[in-house]
Amino acid sequence: MQVSPRAAIIGVTGFVGRGLPSLLAEKGMATTGVSRAGSGQLPGVDQWQAPDRLNLAGHHAVINLAGEPIDQRWTAQTRIRFHASRVGLTQRVVQAISDLSPAERPKVLVNASAVGFYGDRHDEILTETAQRGDGYLADLCAEWEEAALAAESLGVRVVRLRIGIVLGKEGSAFKKLLFVFKLGIGGRLGSGKQWMPWIHVADLRGAIVHAVFSESLHGPINGAAPNPERNADFNRKLAAALHRPAIFPAPGFALRLVIGEFGGALLAGQRALPKALERDGFQFHFPTLESALKDLL
Ligand SMILES: NC(=O)c1ccc[n+]([C@@H]2O[C@H](COP(=O)([O-])OP(=O)(O)OC[C@H]3O[C@@H](n4cnc5c(N)ncnc54)[C@H](OP(=O)(O)O)[C@@H]3O)[C@@H](O)[C@H]2O)c1
Repeated sequence: MQVSPRAAIIGVTGFVGRGLPSLLAEKGMATTGVSRAGSGQLPGVDQWQAPDRLNLAGHHAVINLAGEPIDQRWTAQTRIRFHASRVGLTQRVVQAISDLSPAERPKVLVNASAVGFYGDRHDEILTETAQRGDGYLADLCAEWEEAALAAESLGVRVVRLRIGIVLGKEGSAFKKLLFVFKLGIGGRLGSGKQWMPWIHVADLRGAIVHAVFSESLHGPINGAAPNPERNADFNRKLAAALHRPAIFPAPGFALRLVIGEFGGALLAGQRALPKALERDGFQFHFPTLESALKDLL
């Protein structure tokens, strides 16, 4: 009997992860779900593990999407969780790979990172060769990516996916945006000039599956649509799609006051372009914000 190749997905219960097992199954790949709950019910997942008892033997691919949600107040306690669930957990994944003999090791690690890697870059066009930026999120992402990169010396192809703002019906960012816009109180954040590197969740999942199977893809990859929008334009298009006004701007100082440092992160812009994915032949189903909103609303 032939055994299907298998992927382990850490963070499989999350917004992005939960749609992946069925996509992998379409390509003949089985999924081991990795969750702190230890087991669960999810279409396409036939085995479960807990992240503190990882056994990656027999897995062709590892997809690591775990991370304490960042869209909450940044306190000393939440920062510990942000770090442990990204850097700490990624180090644990690499340790689990290194515990295996070279023949047993997975061939590819697709590890989440974020466009926060670039910090606040105004109008600069950011392809994957751009330098890292400054600030808490840039530091966190750089450490997260460094932890993943350690798997390269173990003979693993490592893809570091710098994810933008993921748009999907189940996503917390999109749900919050819809809530305020439906009330008619949405509007630009700060100056509204900052670039928002958004991506439709279906394209992000497609890019992850592409990264698993495309052996020519490795290194940093921007997980963002080819047409980022300035915050004011993003909000204007969302308001128009919802037939609501976008007239109430949220000044930067108020955002920082109400949601603390995370408010500052919302004011930072990254004009990130998915050059590496496009060069590797990946096709976006939702390249423009209009096409993504039409699908989602
Ligand atoms: N969604 C976005 O807009 C966006 C943007 C940029 C980057 N990203 C990154 O992409 C990845 C996937 O995003 P997502 O929206 O799918 O994430 P998510 O739904 O918020 O969380 C993914 C999974 O992370 C695990 N997790 C949460 N808190 C944890 C903790 N304290 N310790 C260990 N594990 C924890 C949970 O798995 P269990 O409870 O099953 O263990 C959860 O299902 C994340 O790393 C995120 O930072 C997302």
